[in-house]
Amino acid sequence: MTERKQDVARRAEKSPLTTAWDYAPAPEARDIVHIQERYGLFIGGKFVEPLSGERYTTIDPAREEPLSEVAQANKADVNRAVKAARGAFDGPWSKLRPSERAKYLFRIARILQERSREFAVLESLNGGKPIRESRDVDVPLAAAHFFYYAGWADKLEYAFPNRRPRPIGVAGQIIPWNFPLLMLAWKIAPALAAGNTVVLKPAETTPLTALLFCDVVRQAELPPGVVNIVTGDGRTGAEIVAHPGVDKIAFTGSTEVGKAIQRTLAGTGKRLTLELGGKAANIIFDDAPLDQAVEGIINGIYFNQGHVCCAGSRLFVQESIYEATIAKLKRRMRTLRVGDPLDKNTDVGAINSKAQLEKIVSLVRSGVEEGAELYQPPCKLPERGYWFVPTVFTNVAQSYRIAQEEIFGPVLSVLTFRTPDEAIEKANNTPYGLSAGVWTEKGSRILAMAQRLRAGVIWANTYNRFDPASPFGGYKESGFGREGGRHGLEAYVAMDDA
Ligand code: NAI
Ligand code: MG
Repeated sequence: MTERKQDVARRAEKSPLTTAWDYAPAPEARDIVHIQERYGLFIGGKFVEPLSGERYTTIDPAREEPLSEVAQANKADVNRAVKAARGAFDGPWSKLRPSERAKYLFRIARILQERSREFAVLESLNGGKPIRESRDVDVPLAAAHFFYYAGWADKLEYAFPNRRPRPIGVAGQIIPWNFPLLMLAWKIAPALAAGNTVVLKPAETTPLTALLFCDVVRQAELPPGVVNIVTGDGRTGAEIVAHPGVDKIAFTGSTEVGKAIQRTLAGTGKRLTLELGGKAANIIFDDAPLDQAVEGIINGIYFNQGHVCCAGSRLFVQESIYEATIAKLKRRMRTLRVGDPLDKNTDVGAINSKAQLEKIVSLVRSGVEEGAELYQPPCKLPERGYWFVPTVFTNVAQSYRIAQEEIFGPVLSVLTFRTPDEAIEKANNTPYGLSAGVWTEKGSRILAMAQRLRAGVIWANTYNRFDPASPFGGYKESGFGREGGRHGLEAYVAMDDA
């Protein structure tokens, strides 16, 4: 018997009546992925040893076990990657017939689909997210992005009529750890479709699916140097930003680093798009279908452990339905299954890193100290690994840190309102403006709210829905520029009038 089966059996013995309905473990096979002991940098179509000579260990956050040794690229490594990207741009890639470029993108999309199980398992292993999400959301959406932008590759003149769209050159792309493969797809697919070449850096805690993607690039026989992947921490990112041979920077991550990048790039003429943090309002009116809304609240904040820039982290409930909503919400929270990311029944997986867990713990502590009321469902957490119980705070004042700052964890702050005007005023009372949710039966109210909410993406009677055809991006400190859709293409083309 495995350890977990023994555990289930032990619990069943102790209390047969209450555990009779326990889920049996349903672990996804881990051995479908082959993880190398160590990785180099993917430059010019092959893995090369880092000139820095430095490596660090990447781990499985659910078990705190090492998975592999990954390169920490330095300035010389970044320079090498940018040169390879420039060579590929000046060489074959920018001169290729657009319909040929499209074929490569279609090929990548199909290979991602064929190898989806491998990618899903690796994403969950290295990042801690539940396999259900990596399998059903991250990987299919990543493939969908390549399919979508493949379709645009030979239609740029139709996307931007009479403006002579052309590629920009070398794009430097820096991505975070919450959706490692999906963010890679968001960055690489439109860049390649428009005829650019890229140097991409995955986040330090989640490099493995990006390194597996290099294998897809080789399988698709993409010309060497079109896609280069350099691993490392923020220092590597800063080298990409500062490199004079990079024509465009695309960044997704913290507002703090986004601001630093913007300062570095001021006056250089390099193009920039920033997708930063958020503190979204999820607004429930008293005519909303309450059971669906509760599902939307749960999905809005506990999806991907709340490591979501557009998470519905501030819940606004109309006063007349406050009690009923909170009662239903707490009941639903008690059914959430927290634990092994590779178990197919898991709803909430591991926190991505120790640092992120510490940030969540300290913000939650501040919520208690400032006077909010905390609720956590009973929940047995694994002994090793980084975990945080799904949490809801009621009695929250707008001034509390938990109502102001991005927690980026499974923590919801509940506030109330009486009128639509009050909801708008409170929802917009944030330095961010990435997303929002509105739950109501009235179509006219949805449109009226959407017009007045200062947020880039607004969901109505749903939450956290994504589609490659739909542009995504923020207002204010959530950044600028859009990813996805035709808008996402615009960031990667030079035009006569821009
Ligand atoms: P971060 O912004 O430091 O990291 C994101 C990416 O930027 C990583 O690839 C990192 O290596 C790189 N980076 C770090 N410093 C850099 C620099 N000076 N120049 C260029 N690249 C640099 O975010 P971190 O520290 O992982 O998380 C801190 C907080 O940021 C989170 O708690 C969350 O609130 C927010 N965040 C928001 C994300 C979003 O999707 N909007 C994603 C990740 C974090
Ligand atoms: Mg950081």
